Amino acid sequence: VETIIGTDIAAACTLLKSGGLVAIPTETVYGLAADATNEPALAEIFIAKGRPTSNPLILHFPSLEAALPYCLEIPTTLSALAQRFWPGPLTLIVQKSSLVSALVTAGQDSVAIRVPKHPLTRALLAHMAVPLAAPSANKYGELSPTSAPQVASQLSGRIPYILDGGSCDGGLESTIVGMVNERVVVYRLGGLSLEDLENELGYLPEVRKELHAGVRTSGMVKHHYATQTPLYFYDGQDLGPTDCLIYHSENLHSLHANNSCLSQHHNLIEAAQNLYACLHELDQLKYKRLFIERFPDLGLGRTMNDRLERATAKFQD
Ligand code: TXA
Ligand code: MG
Repeated sequence: VETIIGTDIAAACTLLKSGGLVAIPTETVYGLAADATNEPALAEIFIAKGRPTSNPLILHFPSLEAALPYCLEIPTTLSALAQRFWPGPLTLIVQKSSLVSALVTAGQDSVAIRVPKHPLTRALLAHMAVPLAAPSANKYGELSPTSAPQVASQLSGRIPYILDGGSCDGGLESTIVGMVNERVVVYRLGGLSLEDLENELGYLPEVRKELHAGVRTSGMVKHHYATQTPLYFYDGQDLGPTDCLIYHSENLHSLHANNSCLSQHHNLIEAAQNLYACLHELDQLKYKRLFIERFPDLGLGRTMNDRLERATAKFQD
């Protein structure tokens, strides 16, 4: 297939309604969308990404109301979070209704739901009478794309259309939460910080990185979100001419001739916007090794450290 990059919402809508796949912009990362009620289309998602069907998909809706028929019930605490943070980088795990295909949930009783924020995708969702199932628009195990050209570099020739909404505002995948014993737990750190959740809940939610009774997320897979070029945390190692240093804080400024700065203003929100794009770009430049400064363990720094721990795990013996 020829992959077209454009901004034609009607064309994207027609393709989706006829069972095609369309890459869509969101405020977190680009998604690879299919009509969530069309099983052959859902199967195509797994083929295009090379993703195991045991890994469930997030359903995207135009509003909380639109999601209700697809859920058995939404616990009050979670619907309060939805009302506070949707549209936005938050995904809820709730009990699914019979409208949700087993291909979406990998046979689990729960379903992941989210209302994304990007205006183009919101316009698209408003035109569709069905939810869109969409994982991140990368090949399985690789970096999530935050721009249309990055989607094309991974999925060109595999999908007919990329809806081009520019660079993603947030740059990190959504935060995934669910309820366990009346408490909110975080299954994947993401673009909504733990502090934002704490402010709303009155307690810091527990983060579960280990597999837990019937809940699986790729946030729990150890080698994930990885570059091709070996990537390490910078720990004062000696850097050579074929290495590159990625940094965000003032004190590492131009420590090495080959360097890339994630935030001119030394802030975590800007670094998050740039992180995946920077890694994508440096991955093309044939460096032998990439080194990245660790982030402070707060706000989006926690999420970025989490992704980098998984990415660097691939290169540890
Ligand atoms: O920001 C995002 O969340 C992006 C955009 C496109 O919305 N999507 C995304 O999808 O990151 P994906 O498939 O790459 O990651 C979604 C995660 C997966 O790790 C999956 O295992 C988990 O959500 N997930 C989906 N349904 C689940 C369920 N019923 N129970 C537990 N985890 C679930
Ligand atoms: Mg993903």
